[in-house]
Amino acid sequence: MAKILLVDDEITMVQMVTELFRSEGHEVFPFTNCNAAIEGLETVSPELVITDLYLDKTRAHGLEILAKARSLSPPPVVIMITAFGSIETAVEAMKKGAYDYLEKPFKLDELKLCVQRALSYNVAITENVYLRKQLRKKYQFSQIIGTAAKMQEVFKMVERVADCDSTILILGESGTGKELVARALHFNSRRQSAPFVPVNCSALPESLLESELFGHRKGAFTGAISDKKGLFQEADGGTIFLDEIGSMSPMLQSRLLRVLQEREVRRVGDNLPVYVNVRVLAATNEPLEERIKEGTFREDLYYRINVIPITLPSLRERVDDIPLLVSHFLKEKTHPRLGQPYQMTREAMEVLCAHDWPGNVRELENAIERACTLCESNIIQVHDLPPILHGYASKSSSDTVIETRPGAPPQTLVVLSESLYPLSITDAKQNHSSSSVSHAPAPAPEPIGALKTFLKDQELAYLNRALAQAAGDKEKAAAMLGVSLATLYRKLSEEETV
Ligand SMILES: Nc1ncnc2c1ncn2[C@@H]1O[C@H](COP(=O)(O)OP(=O)(O)OP(=O)(O)O)[C@@H](O)[C@H]1O
Ligand SMILES: [Mg+2]
Repeated sequence: MAKILLVDDEITMVQMVTELFRSEGHEVFPFTNCNAAIEGLETVSPELVITDLYLDKTRAHGLEILAKARSLSPPPVVIMITAFGSIETAVEAMKKGAYDYLEKPFKLDELKLCVQRALSYNVAITENVYLRKQLRKKYQFSQIIGTAAKMQEVFKMVERVADCDSTILILGESGTGKELVARALHFNSRRQSAPFVPVNCSALPESLLESELFGHRKGAFTGAISDKKGLFQEADGGTIFLDEIGSMSPMLQSRLLRVLQEREVRRVGDNLPVYVNVRVLAATNEPLEERIKEGTFREDLYYRINVIPITLPSLRERVDDIPLLVSHFLKEKTHPRLGQPYQMTREAMEVLCAHDWPGNVRELENAIERACTLCESNIIQVHDLPPILHGYASKSSSDTVIETRPGAPPQTLVVLSESLYPLSITDAKQNHSSSSVSHAPAPAPEPIGALKTFLKDQELAYLNRALAQAAGDKEKAAAMLGVSLATLYRKLSEEETV
């Protein structure tokens, strides 16, 4: 239900409309005076404003209320009520951002309908603003994780070229983050409020892809029942991302080359060029030089798109980044039943670092997702990881005793001897250079660190065991540990800040 601010100098009208919308469950704030209404806009923050355009014959107060409403963040939708003869001013109000106007006299049903439409419009706008904010957040450069030297090179390049208009070719094996980088480039450029249009060039047969990319005129081929804009036009002002460009047919390659050279597209069945202002990003996991030698990829197109290449390393080449990526993927997750953030045993982390990840970051992300779904406590252990990884578990894994307390439900699995990997991003960052985790199937013995750190780790593991056994009930866990609830809270918060 919405907050509606209503402004009219006709008392009977105000009463009628107020009653109507209150009976529908909305909160209505009625005003008969312009200044009070303007103040009310600030205090009420309504989703919708219905205002008479002229509160007296001399001044279009409605325009002042509209101006104030438009200055709010988020701005409410405004419906103008106009008397006969004030259409011109109503049109002016529309130009200044009013959503609609109704001419007096009107039926209450007309007003109801207009309000319904305005409120759904408002919901759509609010959602859109929220989603764009989320997208911007999601594709900040800081969301691309990696500290390896090759990733540092990528970051340097990405930040340098985000805001220019050059064509960029993003190279890398499957799952290395090519699309993530393309989106980050777009959402960190001045094109960010215009569309980002991804196109998978390998997903469609040649003729379909051609009309998808460039559009078509009605009747251009059987089935072209109306004019259609192509994706290049849809992306106008923004970015088009041509994914898997290596699988584009030679005919489409030459059409694309023309678009890149002339910055204009021609729809299928149409000779009229349409100018487009689009930044082109392309990606491939195929070796394009080999395609050129084979004669399946045009060399001139290669030089056009390869203005600035960015090569993403495979995960095998940056094993030290695995703990950091794991922290990133677990960061905002909590165990659905226990409500606790996830933890991971050192052994599970070692196993993750020993795998060679042919599917790169995507495969790792899926493995973590799977572990979170299958994990009965909030501590991820080797047996929660995909079976293909179990073979990497070290011989010493027989030390890892996982016990189910007799009579206890199966979810109270207790890790007896595995210690936990410190998972916060900062910990992982500090850790990764001197990480105890190596790429060898049988990990080297852990280097000796300060005794204090070891004891803290042990304490945290023990606190977590207690919490897991108490199914997340801190009071119960404190009782089991023989400490007060306050002490448990203090210890947990100390661990967070370590
Ligand atoms: N450096 C990274 N930091 C955080 N997440 C990453 C990183 N690289 C990849 N990812 C995540 O891994 C998944 C796969 O990434 P993406 O789709 O960008 O890969 P791709 O190279 O386009 O793969 P493909 O070639 O198969 O299309 C995504 O969920 C992405 O968010
Ligand atoms: Mg991709």
